[in-house]
Amino acid sequence: MRIVKNKIFIGDVAVKDIATEYGTPTYVYDENKIRTNYRRALKAFSKHYPDFRFFYAVKACNNPAIVNILRQEGAGIDAASVNEIKLAKKIGLGGEDVMFSGNFLSDDDIRFGLKSGVIFNLDDPSILPRVVEFGKPEILSFRVNPGYGKSNVGEFVTNAGPNAKFGVHPDQVMDAYRAAKDAGITRFGAHMMPGSCITEPEYFSFITNLLMDIIGKVGKKLKIQFEFIDLGGGLGIPYRPGEEGLNVEEAAKQVAGAFKSKVREYGLKPPRLMMEPARYFVGNAAWIVGKVHSIKKSYKKIIGTDIGMNTLARPAMYGAYHHIYIDGKEKDPREKVGLCGQLCENTDFWVKERELPSTIKEGDIVVVENAGAYGFAMSYQYNGRLRPAEVLVNGKDHYLIRRREEFGDMVRNTSVPDYLKKG
Ligand code: LLP
Repeated sequence: MRIVKNKIFIGDVAVKDIATEYGTPTYVYDENKIRTNYRRALKAFSKHYPDFRFFYAVKACNNPAIVNILRQEGAGIDAASVNEIKLAKKIGLGGEDVMFSGNFLSDDDIRFGLKSGVIFNLDDPSILPRVVEFGKPEILSFRVNPGYGKSNVGEFVTNAGPNAKFGVHPDQVMDAYRAAKDAGITRFGAHMMPGSCITEPEYFSFITNLLMDIIGKVGKKLKIQFEFIDLGGGLGIPYRPGEEGLNVEEAAKQVAGAFKSKVREYGLKPPRLMMEPARYFVGNAAWIVGKVHSIKKSYKKIIGTDIGMNTLARPAMYGAYHHIYIDGKEKDPREKVGLCGQLCENTDFWVKERELPSTIKEGDIVVVENAGAYGFAMSYQYNGRLRPAEVLVNGKDHYLIRRREEFGDMVRNTSVPDYLKKG
């Protein structure tokens, strides 16, 4: 995003033109930014550990156009569900290009995963008997809960440690792999995902050491050659102005250093190193473009927009901060105001107080940044406010990559028994 002569541009396209052509609210993705983010991270990790690969966690943003960009860059897919495996397949990725890290899998989930030939990443050994009963996976890993997790989005997205629902307890990891080996599985990896949005490089080497101390012992004792170690996602981005971002080069250096020394310590054959970030690639590469509908002056001055918790759930769900720009008014004097969406629920009052231009008027264009990860993906239809459009910008070109929902999308899949239609 750039501000040129007080006008906001995404790539080389003015947000005003986007609002005119596609309406609001609209998610706008900058293709070049996604590619730059990906390449910066890949360069850092593969420089320090050449046998390295990213698997993009599609849950953060599953628009096939976006996923295709990451596929072109060389990423595999981290899938959380059968439908995410199907999405990978739709864009031409399958088999061991897909890591299936589902949670509390159903029989159907397991059967579909087996049929697809994906890497099976089990959240718990209790799932193993059904997996083996339905057909042996070619390659399997366990998601280890190394006993420690962290997140810069508070406890909300801390995915490991004693309060997390995820992963195998460190004391059970040896038995889990033994059981898998006894069941005739021959190819193995190991995985963890302890937290999301972390900007401190030393966190990544810390968790690498934790996992490797658990996995190294398993490898040695059970004579398992791990083919890959997947350190999960978690590469963070700054959300607040002035907040420091992750030094990805430093994180990569520290991770590779820790990893290589643990590989040596436990006498392992060097496995492929993998990570499955999402936020780092797409988070800062999209904005929601919305509009001010009306301004009320009641107990507080409140700017009413079409960007609400249905469009961007993170502030209402996690108290997350997202920076807001007003097109054409960034240099104007400021005052403390509130800002909200259109839903009949007060959690939709997602900015209780913030310094915004005092000149805001009806019809102004609002731009909310860092909306690319867990933005559209977590939007919903509450109050009949339907999901936004998605637009991809590449330089001066722009493409509609998901049309705005309409009434038919709200009632699709519903049916009314005949007796309720009468009377
Ligand atoms: N791998 C697994 C198994 C995951 O569960 C996740 C995210 C990722 C990778 C990607 O993590 P990332 O690189 O984006 O940190 N909705 C929350 C974030 C939840 C994270 C869920 N798992 C938010 O809006 O902050």
